[in-house]
Amino acid sequence: APARLTLEPGFRIGAVDRRLFGSFVEHMGRSVYTGVFEPGHPLADADGFRTDVLDLVREMGVTMVRYPGGNFVSNYRWEDGVGPAEDRPTRLDLAWRSIESNAFGLGEFMAWAQKAGVEPMMALNLGTRGTAEALDLLEYANHPGGTARSEQRRAHGAEDPYGVRLWCLGNELDGPWQMGHKTAHEYGRLAAETARAMKRFDPGLQLVACGSSNAYIDTFASWEATVLEHTYPFVDYISLHAYYDPSGTDEDSFLASATEMDRMIDDVVATADHVGARLRDRRRIKLSFDEWNVWYQSRFGGEHSLDWEAAPRLIEDVYDVKDAVVVGSLLITLLRHADRVGAACQAQLANVIGPILTEPGGRAWRQTTFHPFAQTARYARGTVLRVEPDSPVLETEKYGEVPALWATATHDEARGEIALFAVNRDRTAPLTLSVDLAAFPGARVVEHLLLADDDPRATNTAEQPDRVRPRAVDGTKTDDRRLTVELPPVSWSMIRLT
Ligand code: AHR
Repeated sequence: APARLTLEPGFRIGAVDRRLFGSFVEHMGRSVYTGVFEPGHPLADADGFRTDVLDLVREMGVTMVRYPGGNFVSNYRWEDGVGPAEDRPTRLDLAWRSIESNAFGLGEFMAWAQKAGVEPMMALNLGTRGTAEALDLLEYANHPGGTARSEQRRAHGAEDPYGVRLWCLGNELDGPWQMGHKTAHEYGRLAAETARAMKRFDPGLQLVACGSSNAYIDTFASWEATVLEHTYPFVDYISLHAYYDPSGTDEDSFLASATEMDRMIDDVVATADHVGARLRDRRRIKLSFDEWNVWYQSRFGGEHSLDWEAAPRLIEDVYDVKDAVVVGSLLITLLRHADRVGAACQAQLANVIGPILTEPGGRAWRQTTFHPFAQTARYARGTVLRVEPDSPVLETEKYGEVPALWATATHDEARGEIALFAVNRDRTAPLTLSVDLAAFPGARVVEHLLLADDDPRATNTAEQPDRVRPRAVDGTKTDDRRLTVELPPVSWSMIRLT
C-alpha cells in the first residue's frame, strides 16, 4: 500500500535533547550484580565492572543512566553503599524481596558512569525517608569539602564532588506497592519542600517530580495536577512511566503501543500546562519519560513470588523482532515530542527487561531491542522535523484506527544530514513510502538499515547472539527529489540522507 510524507527543514518540533537516550540501572534482579558489576568475571576491570557490558553500553549510545531505583530506592539508605566495602551492611530489599549486599553503591556507580560516558540521574528516597536524608546525600555528592558529609566523601576516596545535576524526587509514590506510598497532597508537599531546599543549595540543579506510575492508575492526571500545584515553581520535569505488554493484548494493538505513549504525553502536557495557567506561570514544565519499555508484565509473578535471594533472575524478558519494532516506534514517539519531552530512560539496561543480557561468568550480548535504540541514539541529531505520515490505517482492539506508518525525521544542519526513522506496523502488507524531498534538492541516501525478519518471533540468544540485527538495504535511492522505499510488514527502518 502507498504511504507518503514530506520533509521540510522549516517545520521544526524542537532540538534533540541528548538526555532522550537514557537508560536505568536499579538494584533489582541482575541489573547491578552480574549485570554491570561482577568482580571476578574474566572481563571485569579493577573496579569489578564488566568491560564487555561497558563496551556494549558505549556502542548503544546511552547518554544518561538513572540510579539506584525504581521501587528499590523507596526503602534505600544511601549511606549503606558508601565507605569501605567490608563495613557495609547486608540488608533486606523489601521492594523486590531480595538480599542487598551493598557491595555496589554511589561511589561505584559514579565511577562506572564515568567509564560508560553517561550522565548520572540520581533518584532520592522520598518513600521511607525525607528532606534531611536527601540533603545529606546532596551534600555528600556535590559539596566540594569542609563539611561533615563532603569530608566523608573525600575520606571515601572521591576528592572532587560528583556534581550530579539531575535528581528524581522519589519514585512512583502514587503506587500502593511503593514503600512509603503517599497521597498526591502528601507527596506534593514533601517534594516541594525537598526541592526548595535543594535549590537553595544550588539553583542550577534540575529536579524531576514524580508523575503517575502508569496511565491506567485511578489517580492518573489528578495526581500530576495536585503534585504540580505544590511543586511547580521548584521543579523542572514531571516523570512518566509506561510499559507495553505484548502478552496483555492483541498483536495489532501491541504493535501500535506508540499510540498509547503519544496519548499519555499529550495528557501530561495538558495537565502540566493547566497548572501553569492556573498559577499564571509562563515557565513550562518538561517531561521526563524516565521508565519506558516493552515488558511481558503478565509473566511476572509479582513481588510475593520472590524469596530473599541475592541478585535473583528477575524479569529477564527475551525480546523478539516485533518487540524491537515497537521499541523503535516508542523512540519515534519520544522524538516527535522533542519540544516537551526533555529526558527519557529505557528501563532497564542489563538483564532486567534489558537490551543487554549477560551470563554470570559468561558472555554479554545484544537483544533485538538494542538495535533501534543504538541507531536512533547515534543518528537522531540536530532538530526534529514535523513529519505528518499519511498512510493506510489499521484497526486495533485497544486504540481503534491507527496509521500503519509511524515516522519521524531529524535534520542535523551542521553536518548536512537527515535521518528518517520509519516503522510499518502492518503484520501482513508492505508499505511503499514516498518521501517528498523538494525542500532538500540534491539529498542522497547514505545508508538504509532495516530491522525485519521472516520470523517476527526470532530472538537473540547466547548461542546465536546476532541472529537479529539491522541489515543494510542496497538500492534505496532518491530520484527527482523523491525517495521511494519499501517497508516490509513489522519492520523498523533508519534511512540517512546527506
Ligand atoms: O523497572 C522495574 C520497576 O518498574 C521499577 O522499579 C518501578 O519504578 C516500576 O514499577
